[in-house]
This record gives sequence, C-alpha cells and structure tokens, in this order.
Amino acid sequence: MEKKPYYITTPIYYPSGNWHIGHCYTTVICDALARFHRMLGEEVFFLTGTDEHGQKVEREAKNRGVTPMQFIDPLIAEMKDMWKLLDISYSRFIRTTDPDHVAAVQNIYRRLYESGDIYKAEYSGWYCTPCESFWTESQLVGGKCPDCGRPVVEQKEESYFFRLSKYAPALMKLYREKPSFLQPASRINEMVNNFLKPGLQDLCVSRTTVKWGIPLPFDPDHCAYVWIDALSNYISALGYASADEGLYRKFWPADLHMVGKEIVRFHAIVWPAILMALGEPLPEQIYGHGWLLIGGEKLSKSKQNAKPELTDPYELVKRYGCDAVRYFLLREIPFGSDGEYTGERFLNRINADLANDLGNLVSRTTAMIGQYFGGILPARGEAEGTDGELIALAEGLFGRVQRAMDALNVPAALAEIFGVVSRANKYIDETVPWILAKDESKRPRLGAVLYHLAETIRICAVLLKPFLPRASARILESFSQKTDEGFESVSSFGGLKGGEETKKLPPLFPRMDIAKELAQMQKLAEADRGKKSGAEQPAAESASGGRQDALPEIGIEDFAKVQIRVGEVVACERVKKSEKLLHETVKVGDELRSVVSGIAKFYTPEEMIGKKVLLVVNLKPAKLCGVLSEGMILCAEDGAGNLVLLSPEKPIESGASVR
Ligand code: MSP
Repeated sequence: MEKKPYYITTPIYYPSGNWHIGHCYTTVICDALARFHRMLGEEVFFLTGTDEHGQKVEREAKNRGVTPMQFIDPLIAEMKDMWKLLDISYSRFIRTTDPDHVAAVQNIYRRLYESGDIYKAEYSGWYCTPCESFWTESQLVGGKCPDCGRPVVEQKEESYFFRLSKYAPALMKLYREKPSFLQPASRINEMVNNFLKPGLQDLCVSRTTVKWGIPLPFDPDHCAYVWIDALSNYISALGYASADEGLYRKFWPADLHMVGKEIVRFHAIVWPAILMALGEPLPEQIYGHGWLLIGGEKLSKSKQNAKPELTDPYELVKRYGCDAVRYFLLREIPFGSDGEYTGERFLNRINADLANDLGNLVSRTTAMIGQYFGGILPARGEAEGTDGELIALAEGLFGRVQRAMDALNVPAALAEIFGVVSRANKYIDETVPWILAKDESKRPRLGAVLYHLAETIRICAVLLKPFLPRASARILESFSQKTDEGFESVSSFGGLKGGEETKKLPPLFPRMDIAKELAQMQKLAEADRGKKSGAEQPAAESASGGRQDALPEIGIEDFAKVQIRVGEVVACERVKKSEKLLHETVKVGDELRSVVSGIAKFYTPEEMIGKKVLLVVNLKPAKLCGVLSEGMILCAEDGAGNLVLLSPEKPIESGASVR
C-alpha cells in the first residue's frame, strides 16, 4: 500500500545576526521527525525558511543606510550555513521575499477580500514592534506587551481587518472535537481561557506605516500584516493559489506545524481561521514546544549577563560536532516543557551518553572483533544465558521508538535506544569476553557474544540515524553496512549474517575533561559576547586613565558611523527600582523608539515630555533594568557629573539628521 506523504514545518525565522542554540531547537526536532518519516518509507516535505518583512527589518536596514535586502541577504546566508552545519535536511527553504510567496499572499488577500472576510475600517490599538503584534487595551499587562513585557505604542489608522471573531465558534468546536489539533493539551487551555473565552476581536491585517511588506493587490498603499504574510508560507511553499498546485494537492494538509510556545496563538487561532475562510483543510496538528532557558529565562543572547554561556551554534558545532549538538537538543529538554541550558549540562550529557555509553560500546565491540576474530564478524551461534533478554530488547526497540515518535516524544525515543545501549554494555560485563578468549573451547561462545553485541549495535545505529546521522553512518560503515536504508531491517534480530568485515572505530565522541572544557567554553562565550556587542562596550581606558580628552583621534569616516537624529519625547516615566533611569518614548520621524537614559536626577518625566532631543539611533539595542533601549539621548556633562540635555537651537522637525 502506498504510504501517505508527510508534511512537517518549522516556523519561519526572523533574520537575525544573533543566532543561538535555542533557535536551533525547533528545527533540529523537525529534522529528526522528517528523517524518521523518510526512513518509514514516506515521502516527506520538510519546510523551513525566513520571515523577512516588517518594521524591524525596515528600521534596522535604515539605521545601517542599506536596503532591507542588502541587510537581510547575509543573515539568510548565515542561517543556511547553520542548517548545513547541523545536517538539516529541509526540502525547501522559503523566504517571504520569494516572488512565488509574494504572489500567493496577494492571492490569499484577494480571495478573502472578495469573500468579505477582509474589510476596511479604522484601527486603534497597541503595537509591540519587537513582537510585531497588536494588542487590545485589555490584553496589555501593566500597560506593556503581554508576551515580552516591552513598551507598546498606540497606533491609529485606516486598515483592513480579517473577520476573526466570526470563526470563534468554529475554533471552539475544533478544540472540543479534535483535541489532537493542538498539543500538548495545556496549550488548548491557554488558547481557550486567554483568547477564545474573553472573545476574539477582528484582526487588523494591513499597515500603511510599514513599507517593507507585501502590497495588498486591491489597495497597494497598504502592506500585508507580517503574521498573515508569514503564516501563508505553509501553503505558498507548495504552490497554493498558483498555476501549479501539484505539491499542495499532494502534501496539504500539513501533518505537523512545530512551533515555540510563544507563537502558538498565531498558529492555533489565526491560522486555522484563515484556512477556514479560504475553505481549505486544516493542518493535522500544531505542537507548541517549550524553550531552552538560561537562568530560568528564555535563552536569548541579549539576556546573558554575569556569567556568559556558550550559546553560539557555530562554535558549539565546530568544537563538539553536529551530532553532539543535535543530541543535546533532542535528549535534554523534556518534550513540551522548558529546559535549562548550561555548558555543564551540555558537556555532561555528551560525556555520559555519547562518549561513555555509545562510544564505549562500539569501540569495545569492534576492538574485540578485531582482536579475537581478525576483524571478521563471527556467525550468530547459539543463544544462552541473558542473550535472550538482550535480543528481545533489541528486537522490540523499533516498536518502542516508533510509539514515542508517534507521540512526538523525541527524548523518550532516544531514551529507549540508549536503554538498549546501556543493557549491551552491561552484557559485556556479564559475559566477560576477554575471559572467554583465554579458553579455546569457549571460542564458539565468544563468537556468539560478539555477534549479539554487533547486531544490537547495528539495530541501535539504524534507529539512531534520524537523530545522529553522522555517528549512525560511521557505526554502520564499520560493520560494512549500507547507510541509506530505512527501518526494514530493524524489527528482527539477525540482519548481520556473520562474515562481515568489521573495522575498529576510533572513539566516536572523545571523552572530555569537564572542568577544562568548561573553562574553554567560558573563554569562547566571552569572546563571542565581545564580538556581538562591540558597539555597546565602553571605550577602552586610555593610557592617561581614561580622561575624555585623551581619547585617540578619529577620522571623519569613524564619526560618520554614528547616526544622530532629532527626536521628540512623547511619553516618559521612571524606570521601576532605579533612581537614575527614565524611560522615554521618542518619536523620530514616523517611528517611535523606546529609550532609557540615566537622567532621572536632573529631569522629571513631566519635564521631558515635549522636549526635542538628539538621539543616537544606530546603537545596538540593549536592555537596562529590563527595559528596552533603542538609542541614546545626548547630554553634556560637567566635571561634577551634572547632565543637561542637548537640543536643536531652533525649531526643526523630528527625524532631522544631525551632522
Ligand atoms: N517569525 C516568527 C514565526 C513565524 S511562523 C509563521 C518567529 N520567529 S523567531 O525567529 O522568533 O522564532 C523561530 C523559532 O525559534 C520559534 O519556534 C521560537 O520558539 C524558537 N526559539 C527562539 N528562541 C528559543 C529558545 N530559547 N528556546 C526554544 N526555542 C526558541 O517567531
């Protein structure tokens, strides 16, 4: 019988130069699932890509004086490199700037407009720029974005709306009748209690203030809202609403949209509603996974403070190998929950499971076959003693792994495989082959023991392929086995026939001295932090003790790197728990910026509102006391540390450049 094709997607990533190991989590899991289904003999379409439109990219590019494409192209190239390093076997890497995606999004808008599910009205709401999300007054938490806690800005404009509210009853019914649609189950409660029960409002799905987006076909002054643009990638990638819908007919509906828990809302409410409005089938399942944490907080490079951890995936892969990084991500984080990342946990996990358990088993077994049988695998021989237990465990392994994978429990699947690896190591201790080798009459038994070990290793290696593609191939090759086969050979014990040439494998994963390695990781992490946040570092102290007038001379080209513009303070408040800091919202041209400055001792928030200030706009954003700062207000400082604001000497519009 022909197998049903399998379609799995990751979210599409925002382009960023700050890739960290947390970003790799969703994609590595999806890759393991995609590989697993391919080995089941299914035709798999595995989609990933980048989410490139919106205000953030527009603003970053402007700050750097380049076009959005010039800004993002190198970031996308970096991301593709990262996926290559991690052996990510995607079928398509979609970019929301790809012409076929743009055309599909325009067709989707046109269809929804023509069916009346998109209509025009005045919009007023709160926008969180970093999250690209709109919130109603009641959804704000303490006046801030409920997702990231950053300040939001009020926006009013004529916009197009999607009739999301109309689909609330259908969504309720969906959750009630098909709970598998959204997993783990706790996420259903979140959606129902936080969004559906309070009542869904129609969603604003167009912007006029953002130009870096897909123009609406029926009103090109408006651009598509980035989340509708982004979600559409799941069908545009298959040619939906194009002249060739072959892939769409074959693969849609998706079997699985794997997403981080913070974006479940878009996938489990907005996306099915859009599909319902289009009259298209819904995906089978959305899975909202947990986060990698550092110190209890979502891992993100900007949050690393006192003790930096090495989170750069390039460095981690370069130093420990692609399989080690994949293994940590797949095994360590209880699926569906959050999990803490530290260098120490990473190293311990790799040492314990990969170097000790798996590595030892393979190197001991292949070494003994070399030493006692000249590198030729002996025939199976009679089973006795605990052989039966090992054989039964190995034979039933595929079924157990498959059950875990069907439940998307990747760590449990790996735990099953490593359970057999441990049992095989114990079997070596029980059967003591080196003692058998001393007695010629025990040679048949020695042969049988080594065969059982080799066959158990083969079964584990085949099953490990979706998770550790490289180690799996090396192990299989050392037993002269093909590396490109599916799971056909793992349900019964006896795939190896005896007589196979067997090469001794050097350690697959060298054992590490954790203390030494941790010190090395720390150094790399510090170097990485320095590299990434060079712009935020204070100027190095000069030989004369850091006096300002002793700074080295700079050329005009150095000065030109600093972009200063006139801004108007439109809102201001004290930063909680800080005596020094004020949090201003500064309007620069059309744009609103959140800025934190150390002037609370010299100006009250009321005095600040309405002031024209000079703002350095291309400083790398940073968080001060947990509040985002996207620029620096210029002040003059006297010898006693008193600060006064610098302002334009005559009235001039906000946004004017300072030269
Ligand atoms: N562009 C949106 C998704 C649009 S999908 C139609 C987006 N992009 S993202 O770059 O911010 O996130 C991409 C994925 O990385 C998400 O699944 C997110 O949860 C995941 N992660 C980013 N940091 C993470 C951790 N610290 N831990 C685990 N996954 C995290 O959201």
